[in-house]
Amino acid sequence: MTQVLSQRRVILGITGGIAAYKAAELVRTLVRAGAQVQVVMTKAAEAFVTPLTLQALSGREVKTELLDPSAEAGMGHIELARWAELLLIAPCTADTMARLAQGRGDDLLTTLALATPAPIHIAPAMNQQMWAQASTQANLTTLIQRGVTVHGPAAGEQACGDVGLGRMLEPEALHQAIEAALVSGALAGQHWLVTAGPTREAIDPVRYLSNHSSGKMGYAIARALRDAGASVTLVSGPTQLDCPDGVTRISVDSARDMLQACQGVNADGMIACAAVADFRPAEAAQTKLKKGEGDLNQITWVENPDIVATIAQSPARPRWVIGFAAETDNALANARAKLLRKGLDAVLANQVGDGVAFGTDDNHLHWVDASGDTDLGHAAKSVLADALVQRLITLTKD
Ligand code: PMT
Repeated sequence: MTQVLSQRRVILGITGGIAAYKAAELVRTLVRAGAQVQVVMTKAAEAFVTPLTLQALSGREVKTELLDPSAEAGMGHIELARWAELLLIAPCTADTMARLAQGRGDDLLTTLALATPAPIHIAPAMNQQMWAQASTQANLTTLIQRGVTVHGPAAGEQACGDVGLGRMLEPEALHQAIEAALVSGALAGQHWLVTAGPTREAIDPVRYLSNHSSGKMGYAIARALRDAGASVTLVSGPTQLDCPDGVTRISVDSARDMLQACQGVNADGMIACAAVADFRPAEAAQTKLKKGEGDLNQITWVENPDIVATIAQSPARPRWVIGFAAETDNALANARAKLLRKGLDAVLANQVGDGVAFGTDDNHLHWVDASGDTDLGHAAKSVLADALVQRLITLTKD
């Protein structure tokens, strides 16, 4: 994979944590792989590692000042922001995460993060208690929702003596992640359709049948596909989530609306992550049903169309159609049955129920296709979405 980084333009932002010393090794491995690495340091980072060291390793003058008259005459912050193909902040402290989440531009690094159109990646590193803080976790969620890719942190013994989550990933792991991110323009030119969230099936003007899907898994997939260079249409049931930047969202309510919206999209690939209600009332009442008069016992339920099966079996079938299987038991066997019955290329199986998968920030997925199944592991939905997209990159190359 070494040619991937040849002449690629990476800004490495270094912030003030003990893991800053690992940034020196990271610069070395990226430069050795052919990347042009521009190091930007915060004031606090300079307390841990000197700009001179990083200048020697990167072969470029390290940038530290937002308002530097000599730099502004040459490569000022806006030019630098435009120059970058990728901005990696490693280590990224809790303070920097907070400043990024707030959209602050009070030093060169945060200003670059605001001004660059390039994808932003961070490798958090901090004490485990700081990582676990609700404020840090809220900032993390905000950053992920805005399209920032987060690598780590890893668990283990920390410089302060604590043990837990908060260690920066090793330089080699970050190097590989950056290579994968830059190669991931691999889906450029492809159009992917993603369904996400629940559907709502109207019973009367005030009631509906639905489920606990939050949309988080499907939105994470849409974001990961976008990061891989695909153009993405997200057909979404009602959720509380913001649409990832650069993704086209079509908002729908019912399963029939969702099918209609999907049929209007001409896609190369489809990922059906929505939790579609299997049934709906044959007719939604025009006025509120009265519980005292037994109206609610009189509802006739009819089956909804199977959206992913309809698309997979239509003449306008996208080249790749991938479904999910939400199962409370026998997840793999049931996923295999769905793969065949619905005519899909692959199914992502997840165990659901008891507060698992629906509504959570993490999940555990198995990829199931005609050749068998692969455990993608238990991780944050954003991480699983990236792993899924890496498989799609391989799939679409075959
Ligand atoms: O939204 P989150 O809170 O993040 O939760 C994520 C999730 C648990 C909803 C997600 O990971 C998931 O499992 N989505 C599929 C849910 C589901 O409805 O699974 P199913 O096994 O009932 O359906 C199998 C497949 O057929 C799915 O791809 C589903 O989108 C599709 N389907 C089902 C019924 C239907 N009428 N039309 C469909 O297209």
